[in-house]
Formats: sequence, C-alpha cells, structure tokens
Amino acid sequence: MKTISIINLKGGVAKTLTADSMAHILATYHGARVLLIDNDKQGNTSKAFGVHSYDDKSISDVLTARRLDPWEVIRKTRFENIDVMPANMTLIRANMEVLMDSTRPQQTRLRAALNTIATENFYDYCIIDNAPDINISTINALVASDEVIIPIKIDEYAFDGLAELKEQIDNTRDDLNPRLRLAGCLITCFQRTDADRQGEAWLQDKPEYPVFKTHIRYSEKVTESTFAKSPIAEYSRRSAAAMDYIAFVREYLGRGKA
Ligand SMILES: Nc1ncnc2c1ncn2[C@@H]1O[C@H](COP(=O)(O)OP(=O)(O)OP(=O)(O)O)[C@@H](O)[C@H]1O
Ligand SMILES: [Mg+2]
Repeated sequence: MKTISIINLKGGVAKTLTADSMAHILATYHGARVLLIDNDKQGNTSKAFGVHSYDDKSISDVLTARRLDPWEVIRKTRFENIDVMPANMTLIRANMEVLMDSTRPQQTRLRAALNTIATENFYDYCIIDNAPDINISTINALVASDEVIIPIKIDEYAFDGLAELKEQIDNTRDDLNPRLRLAGCLITCFQRTDADRQGEAWLQDKPEYPVFKTHIRYSEKVTESTFAKSPIAEYSRRSAAAMDYIAFVREYLGRGKA
C-alpha cells in the first residue's frame, strides 16, 4: 500500500478536489483499490463520498483510542474500489487530546493504524486529504506517508508557507520517516493568465520543488460536481479539469503526459 499525503498550509488550493479525484481515477481508470483518509475537521471528503456522520467512528478515534481496530473506522462508498476513513469536527478535540497525552507516542498513531491495515494487502493506495495547517494530525499524516503532493493555486500569496511545509517534510524525514519524499507540486485551478504562467514558470525554476508537467485547468464544472457529490471525472469527464486530473494520474503513475 502506497500512502500519499495531499497537503498545503494554504486553504482553498484544491487539496480535497485533488485527493478525491486522484482516488476516484486510480480506482475507476486504473483498477486500484483505494483507501481515502479524511484528515480535515471540515469533513469535505467524507461529505463528497456520503460518509460524513457523528454516529460512526472517525479518524479522531484512530488518533485517540487505545486498542482500536482501524478497520472499524473504514466506511464503504458507492464506488466498489474506494473506502473512506471519515472525519468530522471531533478532530479539533482529538488533536488536543493527542497533545495532552504524552504517555504514548503522539506522532505515529496514524502510522500504527495504517501498518495494521497494510498487513491485509487489501489496498493499493492510501490517499490522505489534509487540513490547511500543520498540527498533530497533519504530522501524523506525514509520518504515515510515503509521498507528498502539494497542490498549488497560483495567486498573489500562492507560495506563502511553502518553505515552512518543505521544512516540515524534511524534518519528518530526518526524525521519524526516512522514506518520505516530495512527489511534486501540482498547479491547480490554472487559467491562461500572465500571472498563472509566471507563477508556474517561477516554480519550475526551483529545483527544490519538483512540479508535475500536467497542470489542472479551472473548470466551471467543478463546482457543479461538488454539489452533485460526484467526482469530476465521473460528473463531466470531458471537462478540462477532469481531463487534466486523468492526465495527472497517468503522469504520476509514470506513464508520461497524455
Ligand atoms: N480546477 C478547478 N476548477 C474550478 N474550481 C476549482 C478547481 N479546483 C478547485 N476548485 C474549487 O476551489 C474550491 C477549493 O477547492 P478544495 O475544497 O478542493 O480546496 P482545499 O484546498 O481542499 O480547501 P480547504 O483548505 O478548505 O480544505 C472549491 O470550491 C473547488 O470547487
Ligand atoms: Mg479541503
């Protein structure tokens, strides 16, 4: 099971859209079995896949409960190959609880749960949608991941926090997770403006930040798809954003640009 964290300290840069689209495309176009982890109290991924609830266990329990069977937290979706570990607002409290309980390791709890899951060889990929923050649950995600993908939406402040995130990734690699690597930055919501082209060129010039060749174009269909609770490649597979996400996943899998 390969585990990928989708993360950026900035909000609204298409982390959730990227995590959900990648999971859906890996599952339906590439036949992969995917566990999608919602690691954001907003629960957007859980809502998108119809598993947001306060009655069932969530990632909060994975972070705080002792002797929990992580399979109890995983929910089926209407997609045969996509299961979700949901999140809700209890994650605020769970984060505080983890920080207050130093009698157990605080940063490796998600990894321990994912190790248990990985022994069953059920999933090919685990994709973690993160909150726009570095907190104890995002650190748990980095410690549990093999790779990081950073979605970036070009705007005036697009690169704020990037150095801090890179430092957090490097520190996590040094201290707790030597296999962690930055797979790359993914330009999202791309529009053919000078600013977008310049921002993309700026990033491509920085060797410390690998950038995927494929960028994701802005599409009006994306908002419609979120209301329809349908992944963009299902809702409108001919939209620019869907075609780009399909090409991005192909590039990610090493099959070159479409
Ligand atoms: N390619 C795109 N075309 C059009 N709209 C997009 C595109 N990508 C993202 N959006 C829109 O931008 C908004 C933010 O996307 P999303 O929720 O995926 O970002 P996020 O980084 O997960 O946000 P948060 O930090 O709040 O979790 C959403 O309304 C989404 O529909
Ligand atoms: Mg999100």
